[in-house]
Amino acid sequence: MASTMSASSAALTFELVAKCSTTRARASILTLPHGPVNLPMFMPVATQASLKGLTPEQLEATGCRLCLNNTYHLGLKPGQEVLDAVGGAHKLQGWNHNLLTDSGGFQMVSLLKLATITEEGVRFLSPHDGSPMLLTPEHSMSLQNSIGSDIMMQLDDVLVTTSPDAVRMREAMERSVRWLDRCIAAHKNPDRQNLFCIIQGGLDLDMRRECCREMVARDTPGIAIGGLSGGEAKDDFCKVVATCTELLPELKPRYVMGIGYPEDLVVSVALGADMFDCVWPTRTARFGNAVTKFGVLNIRREKYAADFGPIEEGCGCPCCRPAGEEGMMGITRAFVHHNAAKETVAAHLLTLHNVWYQLDLMRQAREAIIADRYPAFVRQFFEQLYPDRQ
Ligand code: GUN
Ligand code: ZN
Repeated sequence: MASTMSASSAALTFELVAKCSTTRARASILTLPHGPVNLPMFMPVATQASLKGLTPEQLEATGCRLCLNNTYHLGLKPGQEVLDAVGGAHKLQGWNHNLLTDSGGFQMVSLLKLATITEEGVRFLSPHDGSPMLLTPEHSMSLQNSIGSDIMMQLDDVLVTTSPDAVRMREAMERSVRWLDRCIAAHKNPDRQNLFCIIQGGLDLDMRRECCREMVARDTPGIAIGGLSGGEAKDDFCKVVATCTELLPELKPRYVMGIGYPEDLVVSVALGADMFDCVWPTRTARFGNAVTKFGVLNIRREKYAADFGPIEEGCGCPCCRPAGEEGMMGITRAFVHHNAAKETVAAHLLTLHNVWYQLDLMRQAREAIIADRYPAFVRQFFEQLYPDRQ
């Protein structure tokens, strides 16, 4: 590209740095109230204002400059009063970088069987004392304003994409548009916090197109594609992402929610998406799994008991780095294996490695896009992951 292109809104700047000449992949810089982040990027999930097993300093050491919190969890505990008193979630968790909060509805519907959705909002019973509660678009915005997240998500009506009920799917899509209008009206800090819309519509591409048009017309500073990662087939997933990115403005960040398998990240970047989040890399670490360029390794398996190599050869994370660098001792697979059954240290080390892996994968993708060799990068990625299929 001859020159960079950028666009700004009150609390965000999006600068397009490079575009792949053969796919829709892009490299960009997203500048938020707590600093710039390079896209494409993976955002780790710190549901309860901490990334399980890591201190904020350790998370920072992975290069992470934007992570997720959840409105639903923080709204219940510590609650809005404490959030207001401490001055928001950045202060609560000692994190001076960016935060994105999901709005809460998706978590309630996926975590609580008893949640019911009406036009007013999402009704549920408090998991703490069983009392009836209601999360409305206005209440979600109020909580997210108290949290002070750099990116806030609208409350949306989410169905799994595989839901067969087309009438209910249309209702959810149209309601999500109405709820976006209520979120925009209720947002108290548009000059300091960015509200992103969420495109719904299941696997129906026409419904997705209609939703894109409605959402884009509301001109939010960024745009998310929701309702995926619900067990749909990969080609359906790709069609939805591609249909949406085709209609989205070029100079706004595009976030595919709930996506975290390395192969899904690499493919979604080729389809023009910029941001992703998922609990999988950190959750699977707690089950003894290391995410590597050759696939997922379960370090609890007996064959690692006397394996004195690092978790992943060549990885630059603080666990895998050779001994002597930055004062770290070398960590071996045997050490992680030895601790994996009972001691939490194995979970900490694998969490650190897996977060690093995900962030580094996106750093490498970004470099490949800038050098205009993204297709070759994708080919090499899949050759390493599935060597037997070549
Ligand atoms: N996380 C994963 N998918 C979704 C979605 O569609 N909406 C929201 N709010 N969060 C999500
Ligand atoms: Zn590592």
